Amino acid sequence: MTAAVHHQPVPPAEGDAAIHVREVRKSYGAHRAVDGVSLDVRHGEFFGLLGPNGAGKTTLVEIMEGLREADSGEVTVLGQSPWPRNTALLPRMGVQTQSSAFFVRQTAREHLVTVAALYRAGAAAADRSLETVGLGPQRDTLVENLSGGQRQRLAIASALVHGPELIFLDEPTAALDPQARRDLWEVLRTLKGEGRTIVYTTHHLDEAEALCDRVAILMAGRVRALDSPHELVSATGAPSRLMLPAGRLSPQKAAEIPGVDRASVQGGSLVLETAATGKVLQALDALTGLDGVMTRTATLEDVYLELTGAPAPDGTSAHHHPTEQKA
Ligand SMILES: Nc1ncnc2c1ncn2[C@@H]1O[C@H](COP(=O)(O)OP(=O)(O)OP(=O)(O)O)[C@@H](O)[C@H]1O
Ligand SMILES: [Mg+2]
Repeated sequence: MTAAVHHQPVPPAEGDAAIHVREVRKSYGAHRAVDGVSLDVRHGEFFGLLGPNGAGKTTLVEIMEGLREADSGEVTVLGQSPWPRNTALLPRMGVQTQSSAFFVRQTAREHLVTVAALYRAGAAAADRSLETVGLGPQRDTLVENLSGGQRQRLAIASALVHGPELIFLDEPTAALDPQARRDLWEVLRTLKGEGRTIVYTTHHLDEAEALCDRVAILMAGRVRALDSPHELVSATGAPSRLMLPAGRLSPQKAAEIPGVDRASVQGGSLVLETAATGKVLQALDALTGLDGVMTRTATLEDVYLELTGAPAPDGTSAHHHPTEQKA
């Protein structure tokens, strides 16, 4: 993929929010998939939707896209209601769904030209977005013969082909190799730089942290946290980790250092959790020296695991951080 995206810059649009969601609910039978969600996505914002499998992310996104009808609540997209299917909105939105449909008897390029034509965009736009996602070499390959990751790239290209001002991507990097993933980040940063609004679902928390202005963490159909990754990380009080070679210091001794909340041996390292990194580093320096000591500050992943690993409000248990053990 290349970061060269040759669409026209988007002028700042009307209104204060690109997407406005209030108290939206959607049940499948007795199951509440989306259970009273309210949020706003600002114009030009890169907005992440995170949460465990089944949290309701795709359902919520499909409601915003106008692919699903909410049971109740209020949804406004670019100042309009997306439901019933709003044809005025379609040219302004790009949609990559979690299970994208293709014209399988066509080549990659034919597919994109067809999609472009639906939006009254020409073959040149199709060629550009093929290059943008790095599918140039597969342009003449039948869609059914593309690899999983190549299909995913084609789905992304299909969402971008008409230069929409609002882009929905539902786990776009799920099947991408590490290089393609990084390449897509660059494409997306370019799109954001052009003023486009992006709603982005992912299970890659490093990706959310690197790309998103704000993220909402959805659990069981509800928003459990919503803020910038930076604010979420600083507000959580999730500890930093200091790692040193095991054997240099016993976990018992380490646990006695003022400021150390927990000490344990993990994979050959002594891991100290602390909210007072500077103080603990000083103490370590005096005790053993700092050679080979690594620090890892809290990340969005820590916040996420803390939230999703906590017992749910209804008392059911959830999973725990797989690598954490009490000393
Ligand atoms: N068409 C449907 N009919 C019935 N139940 C559905 C349907 N679509 C989703 N669900 C259920 O609604 C809940 C939310 O599903 P959804 O696909 O929105 O989750 P998600 O957060 O996107 O999960 P994932 O991370 O696995 O993509 C799940 O329990 C799912 O089983
Ligand atoms: Mg989903």
